[in-house]
Order: sequence, then structure tokens, then C-alpha cells
Amino acid sequence: MTEQYAHITGWGMSVPERILTNDDLAKMVDTNDEWIRDRTGIQERHIAADNETTASLASEAALNALRMAKVPPSEIDLIIVSTSSPEHLFPSTASLVQDRIGAEFAGAFDLSAACTGFIFALNMASQSIRSGSVKNALVIGSETLSRMVDWTDRNTCILFGDGAGAFVLQAHEEPGGVLSSIMRSDGSGGDLLSVPAGGSAAPTTNQTILEGQHYIQMNGREVFRFATRVMANASKEAISKANLEVEDINIIIPHQANLRIIEAAARGLKLPMDKFAVNVNKYGNTSTASIPLATVEAVEEGRLKRGDKVVFVGFGAGLTWGALTVQWTGPFSTEEPFKLARYQRTARLRSFWRRIQRFFAGIFFGRGRSG
Ligand code: UT7
Repeated sequence: MTEQYAHITGWGMSVPERILTNDDLAKMVDTNDEWIRDRTGIQERHIAADNETTASLASEAALNALRMAKVPPSEIDLIIVSTSSPEHLFPSTASLVQDRIGAEFAGAFDLSAACTGFIFALNMASQSIRSGSVKNALVIGSETLSRMVDWTDRNTCILFGDGAGAFVLQAHEEPGGVLSSIMRSDGSGGDLLSVPAGGSAAPTTNQTILEGQHYIQMNGREVFRFATRVMANASKEAISKANLEVEDINIIIPHQANLRIIEAAARGLKLPMDKFAVNVNKYGNTSTASIPLATVEAVEEGRLKRGDKVVFVGFGAGLTWGALTVQWTGPFSTEEPFKLARYQRTARLRSFWRRIQRFFAGIFFGRGRSG
């Protein structure tokens, strides 16, 4: 088999319509627009409506990415949804997305690496393509962290926003696409940013709810110090692993947590801020969705073009951090876009039909009995 490279050929995003400004937050907690802008660079964030969830945002972003790549859902072999705010503990959000978009031949799973998740997921999909086991993959970062934020805690509620972004990755023998990656974790800092309850260590009880342990808890200063330490080094490592120099990089797309963290990374890399994609002002910290959201906007603004070298770099809870060097590709296919609406109708019918089949199989063969 000829060597295969993992190219990014489609990208898409989805954000809720509802916007929450700093002034809105100032009516909810003891804060103000000036403090939030100065300390974080955030001006507003998007917040999911009641009928929007991590899977619905992920599905919409995925369909936009597939439309861009002109790859129908039936040709996707692998779906990875990176998220810290999954639809449920299980089934995976990825399985729900698989069903909704009609990716009938795809294996689907969630990846949990907090804000670094999109980097880790991209690397996993890319390695699956490089090994020859997968041809077309969908990598999605999706969050509705607004559902896990304590809206009375000014230390955290000003930071987070909701949204989703997705990439289509495709195999091709032409060199390019994902050139290098690094992934790191340090679980000794796990307590710095966590949702303590709701898992096996502290199952949900009245007590955990009364204590607010089902909300995001963060030691902001420590996370800030960690982030400023790792961002530049991770980028340098990924760049040198791709046999490139910092000067070869056209644009750096960092995790959008705080403008001051991005500025520290720029100083560490001795690069001007105009080399960095920044949209934290509009979306806040959307965790694992922030890198694909910033990428989609960078492409739309003409800042990322075919052949450009880009570094994606992120950090987050775990602690985790990582970076990827990519040679940007764009759509392979020049064919007419496929009829997405028809696919969607078929996907819904297929899903409905399978539920009906399962229902009747349950009646005929006995519900709850096996063998
Ligand atoms: O994706 C990864 C997720 N997390 C992060 O990236 C978070 C990284 N950390 C940060 O971005 C920053 O640490 C924060 C933005 C969270 C906080 O900024 P800071 O410059 O580290 O502020 P601080 O925690 O040192 O607090 C400074 C002061 C404190 O008052 P005193 O003790 O100096 O009187 C806080 O009580 O600011 C106060 N403060 C606020 N004031 C107005 C904290 N939050 C607020 C607020 N509005 N929302």
C-alpha cells in the first residue's frame, strides 16, 4: 500500500444564536465589562437554547464540514467527538451524531481530554488514516459548558461559551496534511480544573448537588501559570518534529481561553500577535470547540490558505496539552455538493425504522431476555 497522508479537506462550525454579553453578566454576578475584557479579552459568548445540546451543535458543525469537503456522510469511516459536556455519560455523543447525520458505516466514539481534546482527536484520526485503517474521518469538538457552570460563581461563569467545530480528514498519497503532533498529560494537576461529582468517585447525591460539586471548579491562577508555561514549548516541539522552523509557520491557532495566555505564547515564540488567530472576544472559552471555531473564521478571513503551514496548540484540564503542525489542504472533490437534505431525510427514516424493528423484535422474541 502506498503511504497515506491525512489531509484536512472540510471544516464547519455551529454556535447558538443567543449571545450573553459582559454587561449581561454584570447583572448576574459581581463583575463588570472592564474587568472581564482586561483580564480575559472576552466581550461576549454564545449560550445554548433549551433545545440545543452538544450533539445538536456537533451534528450541525459536522454537516457543514461535510458539505465543504463534498463528502457524503455514508463515506465516513470514523467519527470522534471531543467533548467535556457530553450528551450523557453514555451512550457517546459521537454515536448520536453518527445516527443524526446518517453516517451508516462509521465507528463513533467520544474523546475526553478537555480543552486539548480537539488536538488529541485530530491526532487519533490522522494516525488511523496514516495506518491505512480509515479513509475518511470526521473530528468534532463540541461543548455546552453553560450547562455545567455555576452562574453565581464569577471566577468561572464569565469565561465559558457554547459551540462546535468540525473537520473532515481524508487519506491521500500526496504528502501534506497533519505533519506532526505532540500530546502530553499531567494528572497530578487534575484537581486544578474539574467537575468533582457525577462520576464513580462521587456519584450524584443530594449532598453533592447542595455542595455544587456538579459544577466546574477551577483554580484560575494555577491554570493560567500552567498554560503560559506549556503553550510556546508545545508549539516549538511540534514545529521541530515536522522539520520546520517557527518562521515557516503562516498562522498559529491556539486554544481560545484568555487573550493574555495567547499573548504569553506569542512572547514565548517571539512572534507578533498578528500571526495568531484570536476570536476569544466573540465566543469566550468554548473548550475543545475553540480551535476549530477559530480555524473556520481564519479560513473565511483568508488568513489560512491551501499550502499554508499552521500550528494548532491547546491546553486544558487533566492537565493536558498538545500541538499539531499541519499543511493546510482544502476540499479534494470538485464535484457538485451532494443533496444533504435528502441524506438527512434518509438518515431520519433509517433511524426510525431501526427503532421500529427493535420494538417488534422485542415483542416477538421477548423483551429483556437474551439467548
Ligand atoms: O481552558 C482552560 C480553562 N481555564 C483557563 O484558561 C483559566 C486560566 N486562568 C485565567 O484565565 C485567569 O486566572 C482568570 C481570568 C480566571 C482570572 O484572572 P486573574 O488575573 O488570574 O485574576 P485573579 O484570580 O488573580 O483575581 C484577581 C482579583 C481577585 O480579587 P482580589 O483577591 O485581588 O481582591 C478576584 O476576586 O479579581 C477578582 N475577580 C473578579 N473581579 C471582577 C475574580 N473574578 C472576577 C470577576 N469580576 N469575574
